[in-house]
This record gives sequence, C-alpha cells and structure tokens, in this order.
Amino acid sequence: MCGIVGYAGRRNALPILLDGLKRLEYRGYDSAGVAIVGSGLQVVKDKGFIANLEAQLPPLIGSTGFAHTRWATHGAPSKVNAHPHIDCTGKIALAHNGIIENYAALREKLESRGHKFVSQTDTESLVHLIESYYEGNLEEATRKALHDARGSYAILAIHADEPGKVVGARNESPLVVGVGPDENFLASDVPALLRYTDRVLYVMDREMVVITPNDVSIQDMEGKPIHRDPQRITWSLEDAEKGGFDHFMLKEIHEAPKAIHETLLGRLANLEVDGFLSQGVTSVKLVACGTSYHAALVGKYVFEEIARIPASAELASEYRYSQGPSERPLVILISQSGETADTLGAAREARRRGSKTLCISNVVGSSLTRETDKTIYTRAGIEIGVAATKTFIAQLVALYLIALKLGQDRGALGYDELDRLKDQLRSLPRAAQYVLDRADEIRNLAKKYGNARDVFYIGRHANYPVALEGALKLKEISYIHAEAYAAGELKHGPLALVTPATPVIAVAVQDPTYEKMRSNIGEVSARGSPVLAIGTEGDKELPKFVDDVFEVPNLPWVLSPVPVSVALQLFAYEVAKMHDCPIDKPRNLAKSVTVE
Ligand code: G6P
Repeated sequence: MCGIVGYAGRRNALPILLDGLKRLEYRGYDSAGVAIVGSGLQVVKDKGFIANLEAQLPPLIGSTGFAHTRWATHGAPSKVNAHPHIDCTGKIALAHNGIIENYAALREKLESRGHKFVSQTDTESLVHLIESYYEGNLEEATRKALHDARGSYAILAIHADEPGKVVGARNESPLVVGVGPDENFLASDVPALLRYTDRVLYVMDREMVVITPNDVSIQDMEGKPIHRDPQRITWSLEDAEKGGFDHFMLKEIHEAPKAIHETLLGRLANLEVDGFLSQGVTSVKLVACGTSYHAALVGKYVFEEIARIPASAELASEYRYSQGPSERPLVILISQSGETADTLGAAREARRRGSKTLCISNVVGSSLTRETDKTIYTRAGIEIGVAATKTFIAQLVALYLIALKLGQDRGALGYDELDRLKDQLRSLPRAAQYVLDRADEIRNLAKKYGNARDVFYIGRHANYPVALEGALKLKEISYIHAEAYAAGELKHGPLALVTPATPVIAVAVQDPTYEKMRSNIGEVSARGSPVLAIGTEGDKELPKFVDDVFEVPNLPWVLSPVPVSVALQLFAYEVAKMHDCPIDKPRNLAKSVTVE
C-alpha cells in the first residue's frame, strides 16, 4: 500500500511531487511527507491527509526529491511513523511501500551497532541499513541493503551529497518510471505522471532503477544493466480527473455503460476473448479479494448456468493457505488492480498445484498478469475511487464472456441460445443506463432509508453475492453497519436482529428463486422492518409486499446482477453523501492492498 512519487529534473520538485502525490492519495491517506535535496536534505512530514501537509510546508527548494502518502501497516499513523524516514547522519531519506518482514532482526542488529531509531515502522530499519553500507554511492548501498532485507517493497531513496539522483527498487509492490525530456519521474501508479509525460517504463520485481534528469537506468540486484523501452500510455489525465462529478465514485458509477461496452467490444461476434482457449477445462475455481471476490461468487452461478460446468469461488487469502484437492480446475484470479498481495499469492499457489491460471484484471501489465498463464482485460478505464464500482461491473461482463466461450466449446449452449445471450449482453449498457437515468429516485430512497444504524441486505442465488456487494459498498463509504444474508438463511439467526429500526434491502428480481424471495420478504416485514426491494420492471405483485420498489430492466436472471449492482452502488453513494462522508477515501481503506 502507500503511494510514492519521485522526481529528478531541472524544475523545482515540490509542486510536481505534491501534484503527483494527490493523484495517488487513493492508495493511502493516514500521513504524508516529502524529502527534497537542495541545499542539504529537507524533510517535512505529518499525520493526516496530503492537504494537511501542504498547508504547513515551507517553500522547499531543490530539483530532486520524493513524496509519500501512507497506509499504516507497522506503527500507528503518526508524524514520527510517517515517511520519509531518515538515517542517523540526516543525509539519506527513504520512502517505502510494502513490508520489510525481517525488520525486527535488522533493527536489533543495527541498534546494537549504535543506530538510533525513532519510529515503530519496518521501513526505518532499511534506511539505517543503507546508511551502514554507504560509501559514497547510494545505489550500491541500497543494493547491499536489499540483499539483507526480506519482504515486499517499492522504495525511493535520496542522499544529500548526491543531488540529481533518485534511487528506486521494487519487489512485489508497483513502481513505474515516467520518462520526460530533461526530467524523469518515479511513481507507484501512472496517474501521478500523466500531467508530465505519457512515456512510461515498468520496473519489475527484484529490479533497481536510478533516475537523473537525463538518464534512467534499470539494473538487476547484482547491478547488471537491463534494457527496456518506454511504452506510451493511451489514456489521458482527464480520465483520471472528476469531470464535473462531485466524487470519483459517482463519475465511475456513471461510466458503467461505457465499461460494459468497451469490455464487450470485438469479443462477442466470434467469442474471441484475448486468445482464451477452453480445451481441457472441466471445472473452474474463482479466486479473489474484496469486491472482486463478490464478482467471483456471481461467476460461480454464471459458469454453472451458461457453461454447465462445476464452479466454486474462494477468497484468495484462504485459498493460498488451504490444502487443495488433487483435481486441477482452471483457476480464474480476479483483481481490478492486479496488485493485491493475496491474489498474487493465490496465483502462485494455483500454479504450484498444477492448475492453468487465467486472470481478469483492469490494469495492463499489472503483476497478476505476469503471474498467470492468460489475461483477460476488463476495459473499464482507470478507477480512482477506493470503492470499486465500474470495474466490478466490467468483471461481471468478462465472466459472462468466458462462460459463453466455455458454454459454446463444451456444447452446453445451442446456437439459438448462444445468439440470444449475445444479444442480451449487447443490451447491458442500456440496462445500466436505465438505472443511472433514475438516480433521483435512488437519492430519495437514500433519504428515506439512509438514517438507520444497521441495514440488512438479502438476496438469493446469483443475487446473493450482489447483496453482499451492496452491503460492502454501504459499510465502506457511509460507515453504516450493513450485513448481507442469503435470504434463506434469515431464519437461522439474523431474524433475531430484525426490528422496525432495521431496514431491509431485498434483491427480488424475477429469477428461479423469486417466489422464495417473496416469502423471505414476508418474514422480515412481519417483524416490522421497512423493506426496499430491487425488483423487475413491470412486476405488479412486488409493490404489494414491500414499502418501496426500485425497478431494473427485465433481463434473464443471469445478467440481472449488472443493473442491480449499479442501483446498489448509487444507493450507497447517496447515503454516504447525505452523511457527508469522505466517499473517495474511506477511513482505514486503500484501493490497492499490496500487503498480506
Ligand atoms: C481493496 C479495495 C477493494 C477491492 C479489493 C481487491 O480492499 O479497497 O475495493 O475490491 O482491494 O482489489 P483488487 O484490485 O484485487 O480487485
């Protein structure tokens, strides 16, 4: 986690670093800091958002430096634990994203040699280690230090006596170089660089990089040079800005139709999905974290229905440490960022077990795409809001495509059925737009239901994971306690908590469990809970059983998770907005979790 940005050039570094850092704030925001080499090393850091740091910054002058925004792992969010960390001489500054696993042993050794530590972080051991190896060349000292360190990192280091140079290194945490004329950049993610350049180089695991105003040199951990040409980024800075919406999350929810359209583009006619071949696939396991895990759970129903193939879903953090059975399913790893540590670990474990691996990712060239046999990209465009929205929708679309391909190749789908499903998939952007066009209705429902302390979501079948995702959205951005249950499970415990003060949001579209769902709604309304149902357009019966209905278009049940999810995303957004919550940066969370 955390965001880092570095600069070596001719301009004053500070405004460039702050601008870049703000575009990385989605990666962590409990403290921030900056280090600049001008006349000596200047370091300023503090607890809180970047804006707080900015408000107290003196005019730091110098054209080499880096900045960091933190998501705490070791050591509470505080000024002293904020990055940069500095060595005993006060000449070396270091910022780090990741976890140094053997930091305690390193610290003990370094303290016994007289190094003075001031923070509780794992990172500080690394800066003292670099100091202990320093003999006038920062990259040499950093390389030696990294040979002693175990764990994940993207680091940036500067030295007061080596102005014009930023040293970086990467292992299991992202790091990208921006290449410009007379200036070069380093960052955790591309948006930090886009204002300055569209030419980037990705640093790979166990590689180091040194930037100066005129040079970028990548080396392996033994110091051997590696040649790599820059790539051009095709999306623009505008894509990474709010475009008139109040929040990134709202902008991104409104981009769902485009994300669906782009993800389907050119893939439907011949079911050509990035070269994915279904030969030999007899079962599927879907593995992911967070929202992507909810897409995986929907995927289970989708694969069983469309491709008639056994499918299961598992959390990446569980899968990677479980004992797998001897069968070798196709393992599909789903990750928006492609950088989630647990999902990467699961990919390695799946390969170790001899499974073929396929990943669904939204980020071209991300780590997961390199750890799996095949990649299918969702083409949702960059997502900045911490709560995943359009990328979840695009993941569902990618799953439909893979299921169609499998269904076709396995002979599970007749021609007519296949054609019908393809047409229905083509109608999905419209179905999402239909929901978005009625955002005002959702705002009013948010006013009515969004003041509760606890909210329950219920759903069944493919819409059970959709209920889970709806509850996750609400809790993460509005801080209202929200729980989702498979509606059939209510009677096994949760009913004890249902009262007139706990609204229930029921996904009750017309699917194979619709009748059962109506009975479950009866169980909660009999206990006085107000019920808001998400139902199918034209359903005349449902309004008789519930307090309010929000209608989504009539689609085959297997596709209904798309419009229902858009509605639940908007609902969560409107509730959080009503409560004035920091929607794009919910407390304690970050967009991409690169630690276990
Ligand atoms: C974090 C984000 C979630 C996301 C999860 C998995 O927790 O806050 O929104 O769903 O990571 O991320 P991934 O990039 O693997 O889909």
